[in-house]
Amino acid sequence: MREPPVLAVEGLDKSFGAVRALHGVSLQLHAGEAHALAGENGAGKSTLIKTLAGVHRPDAGTVLIDGEPVTLHGPADARDAGIAVIYQEPTLFPDLSVAENIFMGRQPRRSLGRIDHKAVKAAAAALFARLGVDLDPEQPARGLSIADQQIVEIAKALSFDARVLIMDEPTAALTGSEVARLFAVVRTLREQGSAILFISHRLEEIFGLCQRVTTLRDGALIASEPVEGLTEDDLVRRMVGRDLDELYPKQATDIGAVALSVRRLTREGVFTDVSFDVRRGEIVGLAGLVGAGRSEVARAVFGIDRRDAGTVEVDGRALVNGAPSAAMAAGLALVPEDRRAQGLVMGMSIERNIGLTGLRTTARAGLMDRRAERSRSLDWAVKLQVKYARIADAVGTLSGGNQQKVVLAKWLATGPRVLIVDEPTRGIDVGTKAEVHRLLSGLAADGVAVLMISSDLPEILGMADRVLVMHEGRLTAEIPRTEATEESVMAAATGRAA
Ligand SMILES: Nc1ncnc2c1ncn2[C@@H]1O[C@H](COP(=O)(O)OP(=O)(O)OP(=O)(O)O)[C@@H](O)[C@H]1O
Ligand SMILES: [Mg+2]
Repeated sequence: MREPPVLAVEGLDKSFGAVRALHGVSLQLHAGEAHALAGENGAGKSTLIKTLAGVHRPDAGTVLIDGEPVTLHGPADARDAGIAVIYQEPTLFPDLSVAENIFMGRQPRRSLGRIDHKAVKAAAAALFARLGVDLDPEQPARGLSIADQQIVEIAKALSFDARVLIMDEPTAALTGSEVARLFAVVRTLREQGSAILFISHRLEEIFGLCQRVTTLRDGALIASEPVEGLTEDDLVRRMVGRDLDELYPKQATDIGAVALSVRRLTREGVFTDVSFDVRRGEIVGLAGLVGAGRSEVARAVFGIDRRDAGTVEVDGRALVNGAPSAAMAAGLALVPEDRRAQGLVMGMSIERNIGLTGLRTTARAGLMDRRAERSRSLDWAVKLQVKYARIADAVGTLSGGNQQKVVLAKWLATGPRVLIVDEPTRGIDVGTKAEVHRLLSGLAADGVAVLMISSDLPEILGMADRVLVMHEGRLTAEIPRTEATEESVMAAATGRAA
């Protein structure tokens, strides 16, 4: 007979006010298996994980470790039960070394009570060796990439003998090669007998890494099954509840006059001599590896960061350096990459967050027209399928992906003539992804000039009329839609093209 699952949940219920985030969810996790948790934005994935992490107390249901029921009163209980949660952006102590972060508060000591730094270092090095990664235990945590920070968190989990490793969208902020390294580490752990619960909106990651997949929809369990034999369409149907139409609904548009013109844009040490145009009706993709300078160019175009040289024109009118409000007045909008930090006021309502940028358009005689704001906010919330209980609820109560949609809504509501979107579908489920693409395509058809930064190559290839590629702070290629392939874009992004 098979051993009892390392971790199981049975009949889990959790509500937040009127929202039933989980109802009757059961799931079994076995040693040596990578198990995906799939579902649309707001399906209840993070809530399930927070329950296992001891952050939320379930309203009903049982958590079992090795077949024995346990009660998790807090994160310490979860850790003692062998459950470790790696969050998307870990929070290490920046001034401590990597090794000190791993052994915080439990460093090996010498006879007089002094910390045995050599032993700490050796123990950390041994953990990295077990994971098959090359990291310096003595390096300070400050300055580590998010990918390295995640590895440090995984090493820490190992040091606690965690047998269940839970990861909530760990790959959303990683580059391709970082994802490959994380997956190699996960495979190593799995072979050593750990169980892994993994959340991602990228189907290819679920199929590439996991043996089983559990799908939630609206807080309910839809299926828990082997990945083998399942197609992407099957999984999408489980998540969305229907077949998905075209993921990249790119319409043919009339490409008109130049709307955004950037010339010789330079920011010392960040990017150099960047020139390009975006025309009305056109979607221009900006591809490149993370760190190539794409978001930085967007920020300088919009005026959040000052430029050291170069010009930016919207409809032939030069934009003042470092003045986002002037850029907005000229019809430019930027949907930032780091939406949580730059885009939203968490304690404020969904309605007000969407309305924030549009104060000018809904203000009348100096007084804000609340009714207009509400109807416009509702309109956009519906268009983007934001999942909420009441439009007056705080944005902070929404699931991660739904927060992303609110930022998109907020900028689209300004009715821009030139729209820059930075990673528009990161963290967004497949169903809504298609909807965001349809929206962008529709805006272009209405004559908006769109600059779309994306690390998702299929998205770039599927949606862009023209692809610009950056490598180490410079534009290295401009590829028309007909010639853009994964190969040609990657070659330019890695500096292999002339
Ligand atoms: N602290 C909270 N207060 C109120 N409602 C909440 C809270 N946390 C989650 N919810 C609600 O519970 C539901 C499930 O949210 P959850 O974060 O689990 O979704 P998710 O599957 O992780 O989605 P995503 O893919 O967008 O991250 C959503 O409707 C969300 O608004
Ligand atoms: Mg989530």
